[in-house]
Amino acid sequence: MKLLAISGSLRKGSLNTHLVQAAIQALPNGVTADLVSIADIPVYNEDLDGEDKPDAVVRLKEAVAAADALLIATPEYNYALPGGLKNTLDWLSRPAFKSVLAHKPAAIMSASKGPTGGARAQGQLKLVLAAVLAEAYPAPEFIVPQAQQSFTEDGVLTDDNVKTRLQRFVTDYIAWVEARFSR
Ligand SMILES: Cc1cc2nc3c(=O)[nH]c(=O)nc-3n(C[C@H](O)[C@H](O)[C@H](O)COP(=O)(O)O)c2cc1C
Repeated sequence: MKLLAISGSLRKGSLNTHLVQAAIQALPNGVTADLVSIADIPVYNEDLDGEDKPDAVVRLKEAVAAADALLIATPEYNYALPGGLKNTLDWLSRPAFKSVLAHKPAAIMSASKGPTGGARAQGQLKLVLAAVLAEAYPAPEFIVPQAQQSFTEDGVLTDDNVKTRLQRFVTDYIAWVEARFSR
């Protein structure tokens, strides 16, 4: 099985990028994942969404189409998912209901410096995934509150509690994808 991993944060030292990288390391044997950047995705403009789409969009669409499932880590910006991630999903969402996201399994997680761990952003992200007919993994929210305490500066996950939860989360997610979507 091959996953595509996306972090909704562009910044160096992103806790969400650290989280999704730790999730990739925790994947069971035989499951691989590529982490893609959304930094080059332009602001959505329907005029550009014709035959000749921006290169970064074409590349990302191909990568999503080729993946068996998605792993998305999102920051929470002002109680919402970041504009860059929503913008990326908007590009991926066309043609409506027949896009590369339709029926694609997706696990979501969030890391935040605050006490609610990005749970509100996840609620919104689930709504967007529903709109594009993606299949959000229906597990309780995987959140890492005060995540700056769980990772070293260079992104090593040092929190044993988060490590244990993350291992269980990704293992259960893969089992769910296999049970529900294997052909
Ligand atoms: C514009 C902005 C808005 C933010 N709003 C929230 C928020 O609503 N809830 C929250 O828990 N953290 C909020 N934060 C703090 C983020 O949790 C923190 O910056 C986190 O490190 C961002 O994720 P990243 O490390 O992956 O970039 C906000 C940060 C920024 C820059």
